[in-house]
Amino acid sequence: ISIPQCLYTGEEGSFFNMTGQQSALDPMGPIAQNQANIFYITLWVTLFLFITVGGALAFAIWKFRVRKGDDPNYIPPQSHGHPLIEVGLVVASAALLVVIAIPTFGGIILKKKIPAEFEADAIDVTVTGYQWWWGFEYPEEGIHTANELVFPAGRAVRLSLRANDVIHSFWLPKLAGKTDLMPGQQNMMWIKADEPGYFWGQCAEYCGDSHAYMLFRARALSEEDWEAWLASQKRKTVVGGADYTPVAITESAEDLDTELIKHGTELFVENCVRCHSVDSMIQTSGPNLAHFGSRSSIAAGWLENNAENLAHWILNPDQVKPGNFMWAGFPDPNDPKAVQMEGLKDANLTKSDVDALVAYLYTLK
Ligand code: CUA
Repeated sequence: ISIPQCLYTGEEGSFFNMTGQQSALDPMGPIAQNQANIFYITLWVTLFLFITVGGALAFAIWKFRVRKGDDPNYIPPQSHGHPLIEVGLVVASAALLVVIAIPTFGGIILKKKIPAEFEADAIDVTVTGYQWWWGFEYPEEGIHTANELVFPAGRAVRLSLRANDVIHSFWLPKLAGKTDLMPGQQNMMWIKADEPGYFWGQCAEYCGDSHAYMLFRARALSEEDWEAWLASQKRKTVVGGADYTPVAITESAEDLDTELIKHGTELFVENCVRCHSVDSMIQTSGPNLAHFGSRSSIAAGWLENNAENLAHWILNPDQVKPGNFMWAGFPDPNDPKAVQMEGLKDANLTKSDVDALVAYLYTLK
């Protein structure tokens, strides 16, 4: 299976490089820029303190070291306090803290509320954290999607953050710092990407077994691409059954193995719809799979979206994402056809069943 390149060597540089895919020091929007500025102000202040205090200490150690021939019992003259120096140091320390605090509080205020200049054409997105994936809802459009946050570049995106189960934290390092997603509470933040681009996100609050695999991707699109994306998300994809037609396919439909896709559709309707939907208007307990074929990753940003990875993920979800709830609804004691949670491979779901599911899912473009 192939994991995303970005995790160890991004196109722009390595993971440890400041221009890497998840670097907060390579800001691509106003919030991240503001936070990088605060980081550098704090760095320079603390560097100044380190050099002055550390330098004075090093100088004193060197200057007043024991020399050859010194009297070992000699005690230098003792001084007890110097009011001017003491008051001066307290005032200087407080002043340096103020230098750090002013931009920090400014940054906290900026992050919560969109400035008036960006307010007019801002869009709303509701972000929900689940163990271990992300739900993105566009309330104005009624669209749900999962694990890929798509938005127009150059416009502010107001994020309303909530959690379905435990505390998660939303972090898109190149666009903004973290904000926690709390059960029973709504937190707000906003982001803006200056230019169209691709950004890697990560859950930044330990939330259980697969916290490390709770990634997501963000795509900032040009206005034209954004309109096209919205239109594509509103297009219905087909669940299957009696009125099955591969309408979502626009290219080389004649090359498709329609029997295989039909079998996959039936399997999907029998099993997967308990938690998933292929209708972007419906909120489900598992990731919404509408237009699944157009996504770049699967398993919440952890695997590249290709047939090999998808088959592996469906058959061995626990190997990809320990503790996940992929088959949590199974086995259903009332359903004789239920797939067993243990030993999936020799249960009802065969290799060809998985191939059929994969074929069906890729019709959802
Ligand atoms: Cu969600 Cu860590």
